[in-house]
Amino acid sequence: MLHRTLGTTGPQVSALGLGCMGMSALYGDADRTESIATIHAALDAGVTLLDTGDFYGMGHNEMLIGEALRSTTAAHREKALTSVKFGALRDPDGGWSGYDGRPAAVKSFAAYSLQRLGVDHIDVYRIARVDPDVPVEETVGAIAELVQAGHVRHIGLSEVGADTIRRAASVAPISDLQIEYSLISRGIEERILPTCRELGIGVTAYGVLSRGLISGHFSRDRQLAANDFRGMSPRFQGENLQRNLDLVDALRKVAEGRGASVAQTAIAWVLSRGEDIVPLVGARRRDRLTEALGALDVTLGADDLAAIEEAVPAGAAAGERYPASQMAHLDSEH
Ligand SMILES: NC(=O)c1ccc[n+]([C@@H]2O[C@H](COP(=O)([O-])OP(=O)(O)OC[C@H]3O[C@@H](n4cnc5c(N)ncnc54)[C@H](OP(=O)(O)O)[C@@H]3O)[C@@H](O)[C@H]2O)c1
Repeated sequence: MLHRTLGTTGPQVSALGLGCMGMSALYGDADRTESIATIHAALDAGVTLLDTGDFYGMGHNEMLIGEALRSTTAAHREKALTSVKFGALRDPDGGWSGYDGRPAAVKSFAAYSLQRLGVDHIDVYRIARVDPDVPVEETVGAIAELVQAGHVRHIGLSEVGADTIRRAASVAPISDLQIEYSLISRGIEERILPTCRELGIGVTAYGVLSRGLISGHFSRDRQLAANDFRGMSPRFQGENLQRNLDLVDALRKVAEGRGASVAQTAIAWVLSRGEDIVPLVGARRRDRLTEALGALDVTLGADDLAAIEEAVPAGAAAGERYPASQMAHLDSEH
């Protein structure tokens, strides 16, 4: 397994992380046994970074990871690093009711996460979306106190823009920013990525397959469950979906010429953007994981990169990456 270091102060992690969200929430129902087998297979393959959020299935995802860690070897358990998001408020019906970044809430969220994961510390801890009513300095300051107390090792950020990154970094060292980055979501390139680089902050990229849209496995006829985020995502709707899948067809031609799959090519492209970027792949089945890991063997030369960018030019995606109501919560888009 190749490794990369998260920023100048963060941990060394596997070059690909496993994002566990889809095993509990947002992409329709998942198979529990297969989810745990996928986490085990990832650990067996040398993946060390497991990403979750306390609100993914209201604790379900953390308990799933906790179970997977308990039932793996001590050696894997020792190497596994947990990256946890907090702050999103839920209700018993699964609704979303805002964000809470108050220092007392931060510590309370952390206390519950440690229990559910069954670990004595969280490796990277971050608020999922900044709380508009609480200065980010206070939220980051509370995590810094958790670091001091030994409950957390590193502080991360999620979906914030350049100004907020600077404010957060003025309080305490930041290991990485978690943010969407893929061939069809390149918004970070203008200001956010250069700011991270200037400040020595790494990037954990999510949605590198645009939630499956550019994986090569998504089709126009796919029926999505009522609880699948993609059913509301602008990029998966009607004409947008068709235009985006046309981009995938163009990418497929490039991938086939290189003996790689579409998903591997899309992941390899993100890996090629810099040693400071670690893609989080959202595999929830072992076959998808195996495919994703194959991206580590795909080397893209200048000609390949040019062909990929010609197939999927920057800004070519049809539709925003979130519905309007959720775009409003993205500090990174303001
Ligand atoms: N900070 C944030 O705001 C934020 C937001 C979203 C996610 N995240 C984190 O980032 C992680 C990754 O995000 P994501 O799940 O949206 O990313 P993704 O990797 O772009 O999409 C994952 C989906 O792609 C499909 N897929 C098809 N082929 C695949 C392959 N070979 N490998 C992996 N997936 C394949 C799967 O859907 P099917 O199984 O349906 O085919 C899978 O559920 C999440 O698990 C979560 O931990 C963070």
